[in-house]
Amino acid sequence: MRWLAGSDHAGLALKCELIALLREWGDTVEDLGTDSSESVDYPDYGRAVAERVVAEGALGLLVCGTGNGIAMSANKVAQARAALATDAFTARMARMHNDANLIVFGARVVGVGVAGDALKAFRDASFEGGRHQKRVDKMMAIGKTEGS
Ligand code: RB5
Repeated sequence: MRWLAGSDHAGLALKCELIALLREWGDTVEDLGTDSSESVDYPDYGRAVAERVVAEGALGLLVCGTGNGIAMSANKVAQARAALATDAFTARMARMHNDANLIVFGARVVGVGVAGDALKAFRDASFEGGRHQKRVDKMMAIGKTEGS
């Protein structure tokens, strides 16, 4: 599997640990930064990763302090579905029912044990389609001009 990853300064350490896990599992990961502890703005990374995920059909991994800011930023990108996860069940369902293409963690909320399990659950799950497709389609139509 191919991944794009990103974080702000608060998420850097957890992002690096999670990237190492993905590579152990045989996946390819491109890290779009940040790569230092210098303070940066999470929207820059949420946007950059989400745009590449959508354009390339890859999966995305995002981390900030809570996960909220970088998830909200990613979800401003059309066709991005970024899911904030605090456990493996939520992560698995985000993929199976919501067709999430990015998973997001808060480094000040979860450690690498919980986040790693959730990442594995997300990675190994797939979208179920069926009744969930209609709901995802409705979700993605929100905000679009009526009739377009
Ligand atoms: C940075 O201090 C922090 O605000 C950021 O990482 C994130 O938690 C925002 O949602």
